[in-house]
Amino acid sequence: MFDISKIRADFPLLEEAKKVDKNFAYLDSGATSQKPLCVIEKEKEIYCSMNANIHRGVHRLSNLCTVAYEEARKTIAQLLGCDDDREIIFTSGATASINLVAYSYGSMILKKGDEVLVSEMEHHSNIVPWQLICEKNGAILRVIPFFDNGELDISSYEKLLNEKTKIVAITQCSNTLGTRNDVNYICKKAHEFGAKVVVDGCQGVVHQKTDVKAMDCDFYAFSGHKLYAPTGIGVLYGKKELLEIMPPFMGGGDMVAHVTFEKTTYAPVPLKFEAGTSNYVGAIVLAEAVKYVNSVGIENIMQHEKELIDYAMQEMSKIDDIIIYGTMPDKDCILSFNIKGVHPYDLGMILDKQGIAIRTGTHCAEPTMTHYGVKGMARASFAMYNTLEEVDKLVKATKVACNMLK
Ligand code: ALA
Repeated sequence: MFDISKIRADFPLLEEAKKVDKNFAYLDSGATSQKPLCVIEKEKEIYCSMNANIHRGVHRLSNLCTVAYEEARKTIAQLLGCDDDREIIFTSGATASINLVAYSYGSMILKKGDEVLVSEMEHHSNIVPWQLICEKNGAILRVIPFFDNGELDISSYEKLLNEKTKIVAITQCSNTLGTRNDVNYICKKAHEFGAKVVVDGCQGVVHQKTDVKAMDCDFYAFSGHKLYAPTGIGVLYGKKELLEIMPPFMGGGDMVAHVTFEKTTYAPVPLKFEAGTSNYVGAIVLAEAVKYVNSVGIENIMQHEKELIDYAMQEMSKIDDIIIYGTMPDKDCILSFNIKGVHPYDLGMILDKQGIAIRTGTHCAEPTMTHYGVKGMARASFAMYNTLEEVDKLVKATKVACNMLK
């Protein structure tokens, strides 16, 4: 059973922040989620009782952390529907994961005139690494457009695919529009042309049941901090046959088999891609966050979040002069909007004065702003702990802001 009061009680900040503003509502989980107490306590427990560097010691504590770290890898593999945990690499976040693929796989395979496809709705972290690598290797970046309702233009995608397409980089869910892309179909079509698909799962893994094997993506990246875990930990899933042929991205300790001045050989995957002391505490705590999500149940979360977004779309659309960006009926719980004649920063500040935390600006997705001809947007993004009452607060606070600013 999904018990919203019990869930909210698991997130200390939600009550703590009410001591400062009793109207507080956190509607910025797309930027980063709040953390349940079990996650916060897990980090404390590691530092208080078992902390030691992994893969490097024969002593008891080092072994404890090593085992917990490798168990965490298994937990993440299960989360993603992947049966071989060697396909899971811990990184510092989705940005690092995508850069790893771009600099290792992209550098290795892209030749002059090859093409990389990205969508117009991508976050900068799934655009800029590809621009950099295309520039370095003489490849061409092509853009899959989307329609004004936020739907990806699949027929344009099909037309853009050709034998020169080597990589398709696509988000599972737009961080601005909330659009859920049909990544299974995108992978299937890309593979018909021999192209590999890199999926940005930052928003997707939080709001959707995710199965990388059913999706058949070649790489999948996400950040822990949006999935109720701390900052500084992320994941890259990659098909083992690809990870094995890819050169290391960074060199250092733990990623080697043998080092001599003449020649260095590398550790097998995944360690080949985990140079230096990894964020093992973050990885173990991320696994704790995943266990928390599993205990609530992703289906329950999805159902609750659907109620939130449907209600928010219905009530927000009644506000005079509102423009909502992304209106797909099955979108994830992200609502970007503007009020005609009101700057999104002003709107965000007046909402903040009423206790409502939303994001304002370009949402690290400037091409999406360009699509709509705006400099920025306001964005409310929801998580499992949000309530319909908080949607009401958003609507009320937005109306107050409109009355003040228009
Ligand atoms: N990428 C994060 C967001 O969408 C920060 O807000």
